[in-house]
Amino acid sequence: MRAALAVAVLVYSAVTSALLRDTMAPLVIVKLGGSAITRKATHATLNEAGLAGVVSAVRAAVDGAARVCVVHGAGSFGHMEASEYGIAAGTAHPEWRTGFARTRQQVTRLNHLVVGAFLDAGLPAVGCSPYPATSTAAPQVLAEAGGAALAQAATAALEAGLVPVFHGDAVLDASQGCSILSGDTLTQVLSERLKPTCCVFVADVDGVYDRPPADPGAVLLRDIRVGADGKLSTRVVTRNDHAHDVTGGLEAKIAAAAAVGVATGAPVHVVKAGSEACAEAVAGSLRPSGGTTIAAAGAGG
Ligand code: IPE
Repeated sequence: MRAALAVAVLVYSAVTSALLRDTMAPLVIVKLGGSAITRKATHATLNEAGLAGVVSAVRAAVDGAARVCVVHGAGSFGHMEASEYGIAAGTAHPEWRTGFARTRQQVTRLNHLVVGAFLDAGLPAVGCSPYPATSTAAPQVLAEAGGAALAQAATAALEAGLVPVFHGDAVLDASQGCSILSGDTLTQVLSERLKPTCCVFVADVDGVYDRPPADPGAVLLRDIRVGADGKLSTRVVTRNDHAHDVTGGLEAKIAAAAAVGVATGAPVHVVKAGSEACAEAVAGSLRPSGGTTIAAAGAGG
């Protein structure tokens, strides 16, 4: 009887402390764009300054008790291999298996470097690969079991006080043999299941502009609202400057960010690596002092 009571008390305190942690500590899902942490035009080259800016933002957020789940893209590690062998389009290339393996080698290499940078900053980062546990039913559509496995892996790592670091990956695909699962889709799936306080897309520019940022007269959009149909309140003209990008460039990224906002009701911030707004957003701010905030029409803020 006494033992049963002790167990009940233990379970109750574990549950209440988990609940308290959930309600008190912000949970932030941070997508590091390949353009922010690598030099996209030079094969397999890190953007050391961009990565350092993100690492210090995550370090400060964790010191402030936020729970942070990191996802990164491929940048110059993987897009070129995926493009050369047509991996996003399936298994038509006669040497797709080599291309699949080489794409994975590059993205896992980048993951190793990103995890290393977090470890050097004293953060217990653990690399988490979608392949082989996850596959897609169709390009960018996760099989149900895969989505659940990812969310479970992220939740378990966060509960253990670790910093999970996922990455866009080459995966097997039920409809076409293989495909590319982008970091943006991963971020979307994790956000839908983990319901973060906010979600942050870290870029190499200050946010989303009304036209390509290098174009004369480009204006930073501080707020974008998204309707339930995915339509944006503001027109954004995009241009894909990287021929090797196999996952749809900026347009696909804004669509993914908008989908996260609609699906979770949480604000989605697009900020520049190393900026003040990046530090605020990664720490869980609902309204950072800079960058672009994308939110569902009707959501508070
Ligand atoms: C691409 O992921 C993954 C590959 C294997 C090519 P993302 O589409 O999220 O990568 P970035 O952020 O655009 O580089």
